[in-house]
Amino acid sequence: MESKDIHQCRGGIWRRKACLFVFWCFFLNGTQAQIRYSIPEEMKKGSLVGNVARDLGLDLKRLRSGRARIVTGENVQYAELRADKGLLDVHERIDREQLCGDVTPCSFTFEILLENPMELHPVTIEVLDVNDNAPTFESRHLEFEISESAALGSRFLLENAHDADVDANGLQSYILTPSDNFVLKQHVSPGGRKYAEMVLQKVLDREQQPRLSLKLVAVDGGNPQRSGTVNVEIIILDINDNAPVFNQTIYKAKLFENAPKGTHVLTVNATDADSGSNGIVTYSFSKSNAGITDLFHIDEVAGCISVAKPIDYEKDKTIEFMVEAKDQGGLSKSAKVEIEVMDLNDNVPAINVMSFTSPVQEDSPVGATIGIINVKDQDSGENGHVRCAIEGRVPFKIKSNVRNYFALMTDADLDRERVSEYNITVVASDSGSPPLSIKHTFNLKVSDVNDNAPVFPVSLYSANVAENNTPGGPVLSVSAKDPDENQNARVSYMLEQSEIGGRSISEFVSVNAESGVISAARSYDYEQLKEFHFRVRAQDGGSPPLSSNVSVRMLIQDQNDNAPQVLYPVQTGGSLLAEMVPRSAEVGYLVTKVVAVDVDSGQNAWLSYKVHKATDRALFEVGLHNGEIGVQ
Ligand SMILES: *[C@@H]1O[C@H](CO)[C@@H](O)[C@H](O)[C@H]1NC(C)=O
Ligand SMILES: *[C@@H]1O[C@H](CO)[C@@H](O)[C@H](O)[C@H]1NC(C)=O
Repeated sequence: MESKDIHQCRGGIWRRKACLFVFWCFFLNGTQAQIRYSIPEEMKKGSLVGNVARDLGLDLKRLRSGRARIVTGENVQYAELRADKGLLDVHERIDREQLCGDVTPCSFTFEILLENPMELHPVTIEVLDVNDNAPTFESRHLEFEISESAALGSRFLLENAHDADVDANGLQSYILTPSDNFVLKQHVSPGGRKYAEMVLQKVLDREQQPRLSLKLVAVDGGNPQRSGTVNVEIIILDINDNAPVFNQTIYKAKLFENAPKGTHVLTVNATDADSGSNGIVTYSFSKSNAGITDLFHIDEVAGCISVAKPIDYEKDKTIEFMVEAKDQGGLSKSAKVEIEVMDLNDNVPAINVMSFTSPVQEDSPVGATIGIINVKDQDSGENGHVRCAIEGRVPFKIKSNVRNYFALMTDADLDRERVSEYNITVVASDSGSPPLSIKHTFNLKVSDVNDNAPVFPVSLYSANVAENNTPGGPVLSVSAKDPDENQNARVSYMLEQSEIGGRSISEFVSVNAESGVISAARSYDYEQLKEFHFRVRAQDGGSPPLSSNVSVRMLIQDQNDNAPQVLYPVQTGGSLLAEMVPRSAEVGYLVTKVVAVDVDSGQNAWLSYKVHKATDRALFEVGLHNGEIGVQ
């Protein structure tokens, strides 16, 4: 469409201008006349330039006879003379721009030569510009890098366009679109070159719009108007006008205590709207958090916070610190991190003995308190809730009335004589899962109370003593045992008061208080006293003392300490005793009977008779056992 329009347009122009601008010039030097034509450029080959015959005042015959022709010093012959008709035609396409460039007016000259006689007629053809060239930019696009900090009013020179056409068809002005940020300021150089500058009129914001695409249009004044466009790319350079921004103002995380080094806690993230190094964010702990670097490590690039050293809940239940995000342009922002440390059952309960009494008297009442302990567990909640129990079967119990305080008390009667020492193991366990526990063993000694009397192993001691004994000689010893301890078990012996035949027992026997050895206090006479009884008391050294007694039977043994005594016949004064025996006494005649007694007992009292002295042994005999003296 357009090219057709232009073509028609050219045709129109030619017709008009051909009429308007043809004129003659006559030079004064004789036959020479100069003709000047004006034609628009780009006329079709064969188009009429002018009627030279008429304009030179030559008839066609003369042209023919003079062999009129064009002579030119140029290589290109733009015009052609049709001598038969006296017309000058376009021979070659005439491009004004090629022919003259910027030079105006644009014309070329040649001569028409005639011979016989020779005439030379210069012809000048002015080539009129047609708007056949649009303004063009050399560059395909223009690129500017402009800092977003560029001041208002900053100027940026734009490449100028070139329009091969001239005058009104040449470059007239520039238009810049869109014109939000820049206005165009147009200039004409002393050489007539039209150029323009962009002037910043609104601050650039890279973060809002990192690049701008503008169009610079150069327009000419032709009709129709032609234009050329170049894209103007504006890359807005960052200035560090943005600090990094955290995606959260507070970061919260939960962490079990004792988590090993390297455990990931959380990741902070900040973005920086700036570009390049101004937008590269690095993370660090804020300087204000003293000691935090001991506990945590932050990855400078990734923002990962991890455990640097296992954390003890008992020391730090919540940890707060600030992290800083910094761009390389030096702007920084901080955010808060709150880490809640969660308790693990990592603390064993501790037992503190507040008081403990040992020994305890064996007669202590049931429920007597023998110790108080305090338990502590650094953990919290169930992990720190401690219970106590006693291990094994012992007559003790543990009770708590006040939290974390426990009383150790007796739960049954104690008896030192049965168990004199207890190892009471108290186990304190927390309620964690798994629970942790600790043991404490109390060594409790039971102290003696004089609750046992001495005990004799038998209920009766019995001893034999030969009469005529030596006074003071030991006869037997008694011994009582006392299961109590020390003084309470120290037994001493004594006689219980009693009498024998009106005389104190102590006249008969004595007891060694320490050893329990019983000695005869006198020499006994069996014939007087055959046996006697007494009691020996054993008494311990307790306070008050306890005692018991035992019966002792003393049997006196006979000794042959008495000679027989002849009771009949009674002898008086050493005189002989005479018995009358009849002559006629026959064998077996009982003369008399000797009666003797012996106060001893047993065999010692068994008597036998023998004839001691006889004048005639053959006459009498005495009965061995009955003491009968008979005739034989
Ligand atoms: C109590 O424990 C101690 C130390 O282990 C030990 O020597 C002693 O024999 C124990 N006593 C009892 C009654 O178990
Ligand atoms: C000797 O002991 C018995 C019980 O064994 C007691 O009945 C008696 O009174 C005691 N005798 C004396 C003199 O203490």
